[in-house]
Amino acid sequence: MKRVLTGLQPTGVITLGNYIGAIRQMKVYQNEYDSFLFVADLHSITIPQEPDELRENIKSLIAIYIACGIDPDKNTIYIQSENPYIPAVSWLLECNTYYGELSRMTQFKDKSLKHTNFTSGLLTYPVLMAADIIGVDTDYVPVGIDQKQHVELARDIAERFNKKYGDTFVMPEPLIAKEGTKIMDLQNPTVKMSKSAENKKGVICVLEDLNLVRKKIMSATTDSDMLIKFDPENKPGISNLINIYISLTGETVEEVEKKFDGANYGTFKKEVADVVVNELSGIQERYKTIVGSDYIEDILNKGRDRTTELFKQKYEVMKQKIGLGR
Ligand code: TYM
Repeated sequence: MKRVLTGLQPTGVITLGNYIGAIRQMKVYQNEYDSFLFVADLHSITIPQEPDELRENIKSLIAIYIACGIDPDKNTIYIQSENPYIPAVSWLLECNTYYGELSRMTQFKDKSLKHTNFTSGLLTYPVLMAADIIGVDTDYVPVGIDQKQHVELARDIAERFNKKYGDTFVMPEPLIAKEGTKIMDLQNPTVKMSKSAENKKGVICVLEDLNLVRKKIMSATTDSDMLIKFDPENKPGISNLINIYISLTGETVEEVEKKFDGANYGTFKKEVADVVVNELSGIQERYKTIVGSDYIEDILNKGRDRTTELFKQKYEVMKQKIGLGR
């Protein structure tokens, strides 16, 4: 059975972009593939984190996964840092990755500009991500478009290792949904909706107060020509709302354009808000019953044990091929 894997960082809030770009995709793939979904807590410490907050965010993210419809019986759910073989695999891959490749990653270039004294973890972050992916022979990686370059690097590293040491890794492929590859900020629809945005009015969080969610959508930036048409270049605000709408309803762009032909922006925004609020209210209800329950502990133990064994096997094979140890 083919394997599908993705992870999210437990950095504060989980946005509608995270949900549509990654979690929602997994809800579909869990029915077709051997699915792995984890909390990328080791990735989150590439920038400073407050320990108590981080611990809370990790637990909360697991509960969000399950509340979003990730079925623990169909997925291996785990916390990255509970598996010591992931950083071990990552180190062996790091020694097969060039500094130039890492320094050219778009996300590194952006983030290193924002932090004056950044750690080397920010640079080597994509190698750890490659370890996450190829360490368990992942075939498919559902991500938003901002992570595509990192999955491609994982492919390059896998290919290089296979050439040098013989077949060791499966070549992973990014899975990027046609809709929702990049949900944009509601106030500034030319940039990605991101948890780190300064102006929170443009960012919707999965666990946010639903009245506020509605307000944010109703006051989303649009244009003045009053046409509900998908045209990201000239109408980024409306196109972003169409994208959100089709991602959650499964309708096509053409169907939406037809349905709202002649309608004003207020009517359309209200419909988008209804769809988003409806989706999030179900998640929030389930979240309340899941967070803090013992049931999560069992799921995480199982996930930790299965993945530790898989990564250990891969690590031993790599060690042997490289000539390490006795
Ligand atoms: P992270 O935590 O930044 O984001 C988690 C997922 O959400 C997607 N995403 C979006 N999709 C659509 N629109 C947006 N506005 C938006 N914002 C975020 C991201 O593309 C991502 O899929 N490095 C990863 C975590 C990671 C990982 C992995 C992912 C670590 N190891 C192995 C896949 C496989 C990250 O920081 O994602």
